[in-house]
Amino acid sequence: MNQRAEGRAQSADARTRSAEGRGRSADGRVRSADGRGRSTDLRQLLLRSALCALLSLLAACKAHEQAQPIGDAAHGKQLIDKYGCAACHVIPQIEGPKGMVGPPLEHIASRQIIGGKLTNTPQNMMAWLQNPQMIDPNNSMPNLGVTPADARDITAFLESLK
Ligand code: HEC
Repeated sequence: MNQRAEGRAQSADARTRSAEGRGRSADGRVRSADGRGRSTDLRQLLLRSALCALLSLLAACKAHEQAQPIGDAAHGKQLIDKYGCAACHVIPQIEGPKGMVGPPLEHIASRQIIGGKLTNTPQNMMAWLQNPQMIDPNNSMPNLGVTPADARDITAFLESLK
């Protein structure tokens, strides 16, 4: 028998042994006699749980990446009040004159395009809020001097309007 075949035969043997170990687990005395089989089992179990821990850590990281907030949505909501966006827009959760100069911002997060041309990504939204004239100099939404930090928080709030 060559070495690999032997190795395979051995691992098959180990499997039988661990199966045996499980079978015998009802009887504590017999099980302790079969210590070697159990330690293989234990090693495998440890290895597997270490692998699981690593994988779930990775998954958690990825979930964290995806769920990472753009900015502070609650603060963004206050800023919308401060900048007076409701003078021209109907905005959910915002009290105000419910102006109709601009389009209502209901479900803005689910819209594909903003300002008629821009793909609705957080980056484009932040750019739009800071300079609505970026794609069309005649665009009637005024430049309100929104700062980059404020644009981030306002975008976080608008992103919540699915
Ligand atoms: C003086 C009126 C006015 C004010 C104030 C104003 N907007 Fe606008 N806004 C507009 C108009 C008009 C448009 C439409 C522009 C276009 O599509 O060319 C618009 C478009 C938008 C859009 C794109 C909507 C879409 O569906 O394409 C967003 C988002 C937006 N405004 C957010 C805001 C936010 C946030 C504020 C406050 C920081 C604000 N606006 C303040 C008039 C205003």
